[in-house]
Amino acid sequence: MMMYERVTAALGERPPAIGHAEMRQRQLDFCSELPTDCVAIIANNPTAIRSRDTHHRHRFNSYLHYLTGWHGEEGVAAFYFDGDDWKCHLYVQPRDVEKETWTGRRPGLEGALANWPIDQSVDRENIVNDLTKMVESAAVIYHIENLDEIVDDVVNTSAKEIRDPRKILDNMRVIKSDAEIALMQYAADLAALAHVEAMRECGQGMGEWHLQSIIEGCFLYHQSEWAYPSIVGSGDNATILHYNENSDSLHDGDVVLIDAGCEIDGYASDITRSFPVNGKFTAPQKQIYELVLQSQIAGIEACKVGSPWSAMHHATSHVLAQGLIDLGILDCTYEEALGDNYNGLYRNFFMHGTGHFLGLDVHDVGGGRQGDGEPERILTPGMVVTIEPGLYFGAWREDIEIDPKWAGIGIRIEDDVLIAENGPVVLTAKCPKEITEIEALVGSK
Ligand code: GLY
Ligand code: MN
Ligand code: MN
Repeated sequence: MMMYERVTAALGERPPAIGHAEMRQRQLDFCSELPTDCVAIIANNPTAIRSRDTHHRHRFNSYLHYLTGWHGEEGVAAFYFDGDDWKCHLYVQPRDVEKETWTGRRPGLEGALANWPIDQSVDRENIVNDLTKMVESAAVIYHIENLDEIVDDVVNTSAKEIRDPRKILDNMRVIKSDAEIALMQYAADLAALAHVEAMRECGQGMGEWHLQSIIEGCFLYHQSEWAYPSIVGSGDNATILHYNENSDSLHDGDVVLIDAGCEIDGYASDITRSFPVNGKFTAPQKQIYELVLQSQIAGIEACKVGSPWSAMHHATSHVLAQGLIDLGILDCTYEEALGDNYNGLYRNFFMHGTGHFLGLDVHDVGGGRQGDGEPERILTPGMVVTIEPGLYFGAWREDIEIDPKWAGIGIRIEDDVLIAENGPVVLTAKCPKEITEIEALVGSK
């Protein structure tokens, strides 16, 4: 436990969950965008079977949680205008000692009303009758499909106009409040310190799963959990973007890539570090690492208020395209390396985006890129993004020739960055990324 206590000491106090006043304001802001003759229904995520009668751990729907803080299974929220005010009803399961004995405590109707920012709690048994009446008396229904079959049935059997509430909510969620930023800073700190412990413990004779267990154990020890399945890929495995088998042994001379982040009250962190198993980068590994690092730093510097979303990707791409030529990996002009539309030869080795929004979902809502008829987002204070360029030289690639000098190297460096008036704030700064820092840390337990 010693290593986890060191993390606890460095973490400080966990910030409070989002308060009821803030959630009530979210409800008001949301409802103020709706016509008064509508009903807006926000359902929960379904449960998923893992094996026969065993379920995957349920994760609340982020929209429902954003508006009500509800974190159990089952809850469904309905918003309507009663002539004077907007009201929020929450459909929940009633208390039932016999069922609770098997499946755990329920807040019940009284508990939900007393402890969540809602106007009325309603027995979920009544959901079909209740929602049918609400839908009948509304002109428009706001509804997210494919979450709750019962709600889908009620909505789809009505002949009313159905609209998607997500555009309104995404515009709200994309800008984080001070309370949200405090939670995200804590999630970033916890993941950063967990990565540090994995680096400290790392050594030959270990497996990828050992590093995974150090990181995820650290999350659990601090009443957190992974925000997405942890990726621990060593050697050639690091060149597979969504590798998460984490079942190989670590080998002397290999780089290991860890992409792991946690969740605090629903808010995600998302960090990648790449480091040598034996604590010392080889010369080619060092060259690739340094190039990715310079690209990542350029991406972070591009996180400026007023810049378009694409500025971050352009900044990382310029550095990588030039660097690949300088290292002799690309034998072409800079224009050919970059391509007309950032689709040039450098994409053979950097095939993903530079980053994404981060929040209640790890790939958070809000878009960013142009598309879906939406204009490109402009970076605005309160947005949180990831900056995560990488270069991957899979020895297994059959489509391109990889010089044996670079084969089996996969490097990604990912930080979480708050867009702020005075310049970017790296939330994950507690996790070192300079070569000298990393080499000093790896295996230093
Ligand atoms: N961990 C997923 C990502 O970096 O986007
Ligand atoms: Mn990641
Ligand atoms: Mn990411």
